[in-house]
Amino acid sequence: MDKPLDHNERIPVVNGDFNLKDYEEARRTFRWEDVEPRFTWHRTGKVNAAYECIDRHVDEGRGDKVALLYSDAQRNESYTFRQLRDLSNRFGNALRKLGVKKGDRVFIFMSRSPELYVAFLGALKVGAIVGPLFEAFMEAAVRDRLQDSQAKVVVTNESLKGRIPVQDLPHLEHVVVQGLTGTPGPKEQSFEALMEEASQELAIEWVDREDGLVLHYTSGSTGKPKGVLHVHNAMIQHYITGLWVLDLHPEDIYWCTADPGWVTGTSYGIFAPWLNGVTNVVRGGRFSQGDWYKTLQDHRVTVWYTAPTALRMLMGAGEELVRQYDLSSVRHILSVGEPLNPEVVRWGLKVYGRRIHDTWWMTETGAQLICNYPCMDIKPGSMGKPFPGIDAAIVDDEGRELPPYQMGNLAIRRGWPSMMRAIWNNPAKYQEYFRLEGWYISGDSAYRDEDGYFWFQGRVDDVINTSGERVGPFEVESKLVEHPAVAEAGVIGKPDPVRGEIIKAFIALRQGYEPSEELKQEIRDFVKNGLAAHAAPREIEFRDKLPKTRSGKIMRRVLKAWELGLPTGDLSTMED
Ligand code: WTA
Repeated sequence: MDKPLDHNERIPVVNGDFNLKDYEEARRTFRWEDVEPRFTWHRTGKVNAAYECIDRHVDEGRGDKVALLYSDAQRNESYTFRQLRDLSNRFGNALRKLGVKKGDRVFIFMSRSPELYVAFLGALKVGAIVGPLFEAFMEAAVRDRLQDSQAKVVVTNESLKGRIPVQDLPHLEHVVVQGLTGTPGPKEQSFEALMEEASQELAIEWVDREDGLVLHYTSGSTGKPKGVLHVHNAMIQHYITGLWVLDLHPEDIYWCTADPGWVTGTSYGIFAPWLNGVTNVVRGGRFSQGDWYKTLQDHRVTVWYTAPTALRMLMGAGEELVRQYDLSSVRHILSVGEPLNPEVVRWGLKVYGRRIHDTWWMTETGAQLICNYPCMDIKPGSMGKPFPGIDAAIVDDEGRELPPYQMGNLAIRRGWPSMMRAIWNNPAKYQEYFRLEGWYISGDSAYRDEDGYFWFQGRVDDVINTSGERVGPFEVESKLVEHPAVAEAGVIGKPDPVRGEIIKAFIALRQGYEPSEELKQEIRDFVKNGLAAHAAPREIEFRDKLPKTRSGKIMRRVLKAWELGLPTGDLSTMED
């Protein structure tokens, strides 16, 4: 669908009153320290992100401003900063009563709802580290994450609680259930009853900048998902990228379409907007083209942060649909999570009359690092330029910087405010990211042009990006081989025009099983019900044997070459 990339095509700046006036000037003069006086720790030495997001606005006279506009098929509610302060205070007290202390892990496994945000903020207020879980996770995925983090409390809702294997989680003390029906099961507490009993006056737990804030589990190419730890200090970057990249002004109505189960839904669905004191729109329920346009229209959204797969689906729904809605309020559109096709950028310009600003970052980086700014020309297909204060480069495998147009490892000079501080329980894994002296190695390959714009090429490893969701092939393969018919499985990402990639599994069956369409469906459902719907392979191909190294590792690289009809390369390590 795309023409070859044109490094000279530019979509010029549209006049406007941007927070960041001159990118080059900011690059020369900006220092992270300049942001610090904005936070209370500058005076007290102690901080709490939930205070900075919510209470602070009440204390400074903005308590009646709408903080949250929530809607789904049933509910349509709004909450002021004062209401969110009081509700999160209550929940903080409830958690304290349950014995939660600073540093404890409180996980949130809830469908999107106002209560999710109340629970998130309340947990932060008592100094807990919040672990958000995507509601699509099934039992195995929930178990892995709660075991590894040794979570003390999980907040959930009635329809999801059945997927929490309480019996396998000795460290888990309480399951707080919103909408609890019937008699409480083991360790269960009613969210509503706890809230009812709790006081709305709370003594906030003031913490250090380097104390834990959120724990996001994410996939790599090997092993189980790893817990990426961020600390309160990340706020510096959440705030200033919200100001300069999202271009948030006080009167903005902002909508980030990501679920808080993913990092975009916390860094940019909670922290960036509320640190900037803007009204935050949350839409529950599934994606639908019409509902999304309706949300933009009905809430008069001004700043919209979304993802390429969604934009491709909206493009697929056509221009006619766009004309049925009044989208005139939207002044700034951004995208993250996967490569944004130049075609989509051009379509957006034509149909929405707005530029779509791509941004690049990762769970591990905690916040945006390479971006297109409203004050800067966009080159369609490019991720943009490094944020002021960020030193990004393309380096070879020895850490030497490469000249323009040469493809290499996308690396960032170590030490920005929102950089992850640990991989939970796994210091060796953490160190792998920093194996080249002074650099954080992203695992993405990219190149830079002579104007300093960065262009994404792909992953260096086997991590799959399907609809912007990171899926580790190992996790899917492990689930597949639990199925009685599966002897061996290898999983790859297969290019797809809408989803970026889809998951494809190559499977060798056990003795006594025959390939069939029914078996494919059964295996697909097995992953869907055991792990998560988005981790289930859309395509399955049965093979008598899978390519393996002599040490028995499935060679995904060979599977990928088969799939794409490319040469298989060096096979010297393959068993015969
Ligand atoms: C990919 C999401 C191309 C990339 C915030 C990265 C992108 C991974 C872009 C992180 C982009 C993210 N263009 N690819 N603008 N943004 N990616 O941790 O491969 O879920 O390493 O974080 O998504 O995915 P994660």
